[in-house]
Amino acid sequence: MVAIMSKLSVRNLSKSYPNGNSDVVKVLNDISFDVHEGELLGIVGPSGCGKTTLLKIIAGLLEPDEGQVFIDGSEVHPGHNLVGYIFQQESLFPWRSVRQNIQFGLEIAGLDSSKMNERVNEIIEIVGMEGLEDNYPHEISGGQARKTEMARSLVVSPSILVADEALSNLDAQTRNYLQEEFLRIQKRTGSTIVFVSHNVDEAVFMSDRILVLSNIPATIIAEYKVDVPKPRIRTSQECLAYRSKILDVLRVEQEKAMSRSRQRPFVAT
Ligand SMILES: Nc1ncnc2c1ncn2[C@@H]1O[C@H](COP(=O)(O)OP(=O)(O)OP(=O)(O)O)[C@@H](O)[C@H]1O
Ligand SMILES: [Mg+2]
Repeated sequence: MVAIMSKLSVRNLSKSYPNGNSDVVKVLNDISFDVHEGELLGIVGPSGCGKTTLLKIIAGLLEPDEGQVFIDGSEVHPGHNLVGYIFQQESLFPWRSVRQNIQFGLEIAGLDSSKMNERVNEIIEIVGMEGLEDNYPHEISGGQARKTEMARSLVVSPSILVADEALSNLDAQTRNYLQEEFLRIQKRTGSTIVFVSHNVDEAVFMSDRILVLSNIPATIIAEYKVDVPKPRIRTSQECLAYRSKILDVLRVEQEKAMSRSRQRPFVAT
C-alpha cells in the first residue's frame, strides 16, 4: 500500500510562555494533526487558547518547546519561508501602494522587474483588485485590504497559507462576500490553507475539515469532516447541524473555564 504524504504534518507540539512571575503558562499541549494538499482546514477554539501561537509555529515564526512540523514530508525549522501568513491584525505597509505591497515578497526574493510585474499582474487579476493597484491602504476598503494581504501572501506561491482571523473586523455582508472570494481564489490557486476563525458559521461554510481546540493548555477536543459539497448554503440543514455540534462542544469548554474561575480563591491585592 502507498502512503499518501500530507502537505503539512504537525506532531506533538507543545508551547509555554513566561507569565511574568518567573513561572510559565502552558498554551499548547501535544497538538498533532495533518493537512492534505489542497485542503482547507478550519481551526476554532476559545479566545486566548493558542490559535495564533499554533499558526506562528507552523509558519516558522516561533519555536515550539516540543514537537515538530513537517511540510511535504520534510521537517521544517523556525525561519523557513514555506508558509504564507495572513495576520490577525491588518498588516499592509501604509507607505506602499497595493501593487508595492503585493510585490514585497518578490522583491525580497530578488526577482527581476519584468517577471515581478508579470506575476503581480496575474495575482491582482486572481484576487480581483484590478484598477486599485496604485491606491494606498488608506484609499481602499477593509475588504479590499484583506484581499491585498491575501495576494501579498499568495504571490510567492507558498506551499501553505495560514490565515489568522483573516475576515474578522468586517461587516457581515463583506465578510460573507469575502468568504466566497477566499474559496474562489483557493479553487483557482489550489492552495492548502489553515484557517483560524472565531466564527463557527464561517468555519462550517468554508472548511473541508474543522478542528476544535480546548481552553489552555489547548488540545484538540473534536474534529469534523464537513461532508457538504461546495458551494454550501449557509442556512442548509447540514451546515446548521455542524454548527450546532461545534457550538455545543465550545459551550462545554466555556462552562469548564467559568467553573475553574469560580473555584479560584479570591486574593485581595
Ligand atoms: N509572547 C507572549 N508572551 C507571553 N504570553 C503570550 C505571548 N503570546 C501569547 N501569549 C498568551 O498565550 C495565550 C494564547 O495566545 P494566542 O494569541 O495564541 O491565542 P489565540 O487563541 O490566538 O487568541 P485570540 O482568539 O484572542 O486571537 C494567551 O493567554 C496569551 O496571552
Ligand atoms: Mg489569535
